[in-house]
Amino acid sequence: MHKINVAIDGPSGVGKSSVSDRLAQDNQMIHLDTGAMYRCVALALKENGVSLRDHEAVEHVLNTLKIRFEGSKVFLNGQDVSEKIRTNAISNFTSKVSSLPEVRKKMVALQQEITKDKNYIVDGRDIGTTVLPNAEVKIFLTASPKARAQRRYDEYMMKGIECDYETIYQDIVARDYQDSHREISPLCASEDAYQLDTSDMTINEVVEVIQEIMDKKL
Ligand code: C5P
Repeated sequence: MHKINVAIDGPSGVGKSSVSDRLAQDNQMIHLDTGAMYRCVALALKENGVSLRDHEAVEHVLNTLKIRFEGSKVFLNGQDVSEKIRTNAISNFTSKVSSLPEVRKKMVALQQEITKDKNYIVDGRDIGTTVLPNAEVKIFLTASPKARAQRRYDEYMMKGIECDYETIYQDIVARDYQDSHREISPLCASEDAYQLDTSDMTINEVVEVIQEIMDKKL
């Protein structure tokens, strides 16, 4: 079968990860969660007490860190950090860390190396614009901040995680702002991306629309 790469970009909580997981499963492709990679960098910097102004120390952490995916688990330097990287504190710190030029340069290079043989569903913020400008399929998902906050709230409630809708909503708005106002690779749709507002769509419906687009390229 013809091998392709699929870029799925969009803001926090829009459902990129769930949609990418499903598409990867259905098409025997591999899901690369680039947000998890930035989250690992943030965790490594935090655990090493590195100041974001200390560029030498940041470079050192970047050059020594090893990120490995195993199914839905993420390993940082051999340690399973799948849960540790998903806390609110790390989410907010990641947004700051990911605006550092040296961090973006390293992550983009790594992501391009990983996906060079194709067959990847890559989700992130700058995949269609920067990481894979030649991806065969480019999707940009959007949904209102309220719809995204509600989805995250429902997800946490289902998992029994204590949470508060207003805090989740404010976090989403703050991360949107940081991600779309940074100087390098801000969150924005590539001109040739297929844009889909998912506010009133179920995951199944989103998957179906993207699958149809993929089928034309496979
Ligand atoms: O997708 P996720 O919410 O896990 O991403 C966490 C953070 O990583 C985002 O808020 C964003 O700051 C950063 N990120 C990025 N570029 C990507 C993926 C994630 O800057 N390609």
